[in-house]
Amino acid sequence: MKAKARAHTNIALVKYWGKADKALKLPLMSSISMTLDAFYTDTEFNHSQDLEQDAFYLNEIKQTRQQSQRVFNYINELRKKFNLDQNEHFEIRSYNHVPTSAGLASSASAFAALAASFAKSYDLNLDKTALSRLARLGSGSATRSIFGGFVEWQKGTNDETSFAKAIDENPDWDLHMLAVEVNTGQKKISSSIGMQWAQKSPFYQTWLNENQSEINALKKAIAKHDFTNLGEISEQSANEMHAVNLSANPGFTYFEPDTLELINLVHTLRQQGIECYYTIDAGPNVKILCTLRNSKEIISAIHNLLGNVKIVNASFGPGVQYLD
Ligand code: DP6
Repeated sequence: MKAKARAHTNIALVKYWGKADKALKLPLMSSISMTLDAFYTDTEFNHSQDLEQDAFYLNEIKQTRQQSQRVFNYINELRKKFNLDQNEHFEIRSYNHVPTSAGLASSASAFAALAASFAKSYDLNLDKTALSRLARLGSGSATRSIFGGFVEWQKGTNDETSFAKAIDENPDWDLHMLAVEVNTGQKKISSSIGMQWAQKSPFYQTWLNENQSEINALKKAIAKHDFTNLGEISEQSANEMHAVNLSANPGFTYFEPDTLELINLVHTLRQQGIECYYTIDAGPNVKILCTLRNSKEIISAIHNLLGNVKIVNASFGPGVQYLD
């Protein structure tokens, strides 16, 4: 009747940015991510005939009908899919352990924790592949949060074949990601809308054509623990994603002035021999890939540039876990 799960968020190094099927959230490209230890969501899913109405609490605060809509639609879709009792009510309690205002998207950890707690509460006995497919129906990036470490989401061609799998769940590698908060306000353009607009760029297809070779190259870099290659491929994938946004019709960008300041800082640091690379998602915040050894110096350079901005130093996180 009741189950609790924890899922960590992930950041894509080769980006997912476009859907072949909106309802099933089948992607147009494969992607590779790093699951992070510093950010996670705990979700308890409870279903019972005794509950009087469906409810969704986020960090103990009951969400309005409108705020709960995406979550309710998702649960109703899953109940239909598994032929479960549609009349029973459910209660969801989620806690986002994302350091306040770190400015990181939480839909990946949120839908992964929700899919896992839902499946466990109904004793569906799903393996991680099936859970990954289920999480995908909530949010594309959640597909990857079922696994820890480095994860590949193989785009597949249908609901059966589009799921994530671990490349290396427990990498023995000194690789860190500094999440730098530029602005924590609500996104101006949601990921779903942004990726739809981006497809209007004349360069979009060219980018897609490169997807498989970027995936192969990143997997090779991961296998060899080659930081330079991993960083270069990640930075390029982020640049390509933001380039198709700028070149869409009409063009748009998630960048803010401080985003560009940080991009320039990463270039300057590299010229000074401090190896680091950036990646940026559907917002102005910048994540910097580096080693732990260099992270102190990079953090102080960021503070020198932007004052007292919030920076979270993250490394590899685990896959989905069940909690008592
Ligand atoms: C830029 O997973 O948030 O973070 O599938 O519509 O829920 P939906 O989108 P979402 O998009 C994530 C886009 C990204 C890149 C990535 O995580 O691969």
